[in-house]
Formats: sequence, C-alpha cells, structure tokens
Amino acid sequence: MVLLGICGSLRKGSLNRLLMGEVFAAWGGDVAEGDIRLPLLDEDLKAEQGLPPGVARLAEQIAAAAAVVLVTPEYNQSMPGTIKNALDWVSLAPGKPWLDKPVAIVSAADGRAGGARAQYALRLAMTPFRPRLLTGPEVAVAHASKEFEGGRLVSDRYRAQVAELAGRLRAEAARGPALPD
Ligand SMILES: Cc1cc2nc3c(=O)[nH]c(=O)nc-3n(C[C@H](O)[C@H](O)[C@H](O)COP(=O)(O)O)c2cc1C
Repeated sequence: MVLLGICGSLRKGSLNRLLMGEVFAAWGGDVAEGDIRLPLLDEDLKAEQGLPPGVARLAEQIAAAAAVVLVTPEYNQSMPGTIKNALDWVSLAPGKPWLDKPVAIVSAADGRAGGARAQYALRLAMTPFRPRLLTGPEVAVAHASKEFEGGRLVSDRYRAQVAELAGRLRAEAARGPALPD
C-alpha cells in the first residue's frame, strides 16, 4: 500500500514538504513523492512530442498508489500553479488515475488560516477527476514557520490531526473502489 505525496512547493526548505513527511510517517507504510517539475501545459507539446515522460510517470504513480496526499502551500489565497499544471497534464494521460482514489489535502502556510483557502481551491479543482476526497480532519498548519522544530511538527494538536488523517486514508485505501472496474 503505497502513499503517494505531491507537494506544491518546489523550494528546498518547504514547510509543506515537512508536513508531507509527517503524513508519510503517520501512514506507516511505503511512500513515494510525485515530481511535479513538469513543463507548462502546452497542447502543441503533446501533439508534437506526446505526453512528457514526467507526466506519464506521475499518472502511473497516481494509478498505482493506494492513496494520495496533496500538500499545498497557499499562494495569494489559492493553490499554487504547480499543482494545477500537474492536474491538467495528468488529465491528458490515458485512463482515469484519480477515479475512486482515496485522496487527502493538507496545507501549511504562514497566514492564520493555514492555507484553508488553497485547500478549497484544490478541492474544487479535483472534482472533475472523481477521487474519494477526505472531508476531514482538516489539517491546515497556520503560522507554519513557527510550527516546525528540527523538521518535525511541534504541536500535539496538529500531530493528532495528521495521525487521524493518515488512519482515515488507510481505511479508505483498504475499502477499495466504490464499484469494481
Ligand atoms: C507568491 C506567494 C503568495 C503567498 N500567499 C499567501 C497566502 O495567500 N496566504 C498565506 O497564508 N501565505 C501566503 N504566502 C506565504 C506562504 O504561506 C509561505 O511562504 C509558506 O512557507 C510557503 O510554503 P512552503 O514553505 O511549503 O514553500 C505566500 C507566499 C508566496 C511566495
């Protein structure tokens, strides 16, 4: 049961990547990170060269994963373009890798809402792909630069939320698809 993590922040010191690490640790099984350093979506590129290899690989990783955690920073009250670009590319891949996939969205942001607005934007953007999106617990780490020490979440409240989220994702993954293929 592989948990695939996709982090919308590309920077080395990303707090969202640290949060992804917390979800990975709580998952307690195999994990992998999807690489969303993809070209900007361009239908001409696809027509001329086919699906970029990174897109095909990401779509395969999503299809093969037992569950996916989307980890989003909040940029200007919405999700980052990195994630939307990846979602749009994957929508052009064959098959329906997201269909019935257990998916959780979490965020870490400097603001007091912890990226909650980015989560809602991302939730809406996921709707066409019909995953099984967890509705809670909402893990939105506010004032995130103060919430990690030594790379780990310090607050018991957030740690408990992450543990519950990972447990619910595992339960969804164990349940299997709503309808057989
Ligand atoms: C372009 C940009 C826009 C941002 N907009 C918001 C915002 O709307 N709300 C917020 O809480 N933080 C905002 N921030 C601050 C981020 O929450 C903060 O930089 C965070 O650490 C980014 O996530 P990362 O550490 O995973 O890279 C913004 C940062 C950038 C670079």
